[in-house]
Amino acid sequence: MYVGSRNLARGQAAVDQLKAVGVQAQAVQLDVTNHESIVAAKERIADLDVLINNAGIAVDHETKPLELSLDAIRQDFNVNYFGLIDVTQVFLPLLKAAPAGRIINISSAVGSLTLASDTSTSIHRLQASGYQAAKSAVNMFTIKLAAELEGTSVTVNAVNTGWVDTSFGGGGNRTVQVGVARTVELASAETLTDSGTFSDIDGIVPW
Ligand SMILES: NC(=O)c1ccc[n+]([C@@H]2O[C@H](COP(=O)([O-])OP(=O)(O)OC[C@H]3O[C@@H](n4cnc5c(N)ncnc54)[C@H](OP(=O)(O)O)[C@@H]3O)[C@@H](O)[C@H]2O)c1
Repeated sequence: MYVGSRNLARGQAAVDQLKAVGVQAQAVQLDVTNHESIVAAKERIADLDVLINNAGIAVDHETKPLELSLDAIRQDFNVNYFGLIDVTQVFLPLLKAAPAGRIINISSAVGSLTLASDTSTSIHRLQASGYQAAKSAVNMFTIKLAAELEGTSVTVNAVNTGWVDTSFGGGGNRTVQVGVARTVELASAETLTDSGTFSDIDGIVPW
């Protein structure tokens, strides 16, 4: 297992925590907004079965669409969307070489167009349209890449973590263990036929 982190010391700290609970991993420097860093990370990895695109930021929280700066939207897209695509394209040969490669894109229900347009939801009221649009875009990339890779050994799925109590989701009503449960299921299922889906621990999430 490899832990990609833009700050190697923080990645190593995560690896040390994993080691303490019996999981062997290796830290790899990876800034998803830096193509050279992505290529260098890929060169350090010999085999890869599962790519979890987890890096994410939301710089536009609580900002109304008309007050949103283009710079904030670009920052959201650079990490959540363009970074995810760059990593996926560079790492794809490793996944194709695996017996059953899996790409898991960490998306969010707040990127669901169906839920965002339903006036009864909290997602309708949320003001983070740059971040939300970046996750909608991740969903579209998931659908399109899954279609392109149909008939190959590589599956591509998007996951909603739910509102998780991390530094990002501060105060979220889910623990990290619950937030990652669907991702763990997809990563560790003995066989996986699902591809081009968007799901969480409760089942399918509407696009
Ligand atoms: N928490 C929630 O409620 C929630 C809900 C739905 C979806 N999500 C998604 O879940 C994923 C994980 O979020 P989280 O809640 O665990 O938040 P988090 O603790 O802030 O984790 C986000 C991670 O992304 C990394 N990152 C940011 N920019 C990066 C870059 N340029 N290159 C490489 N890594 C970068 C951060 O690295 P550093 O450690 O260096 O800062 C951090 O480790 C994100 O994609 C987020 O959008 C979260």
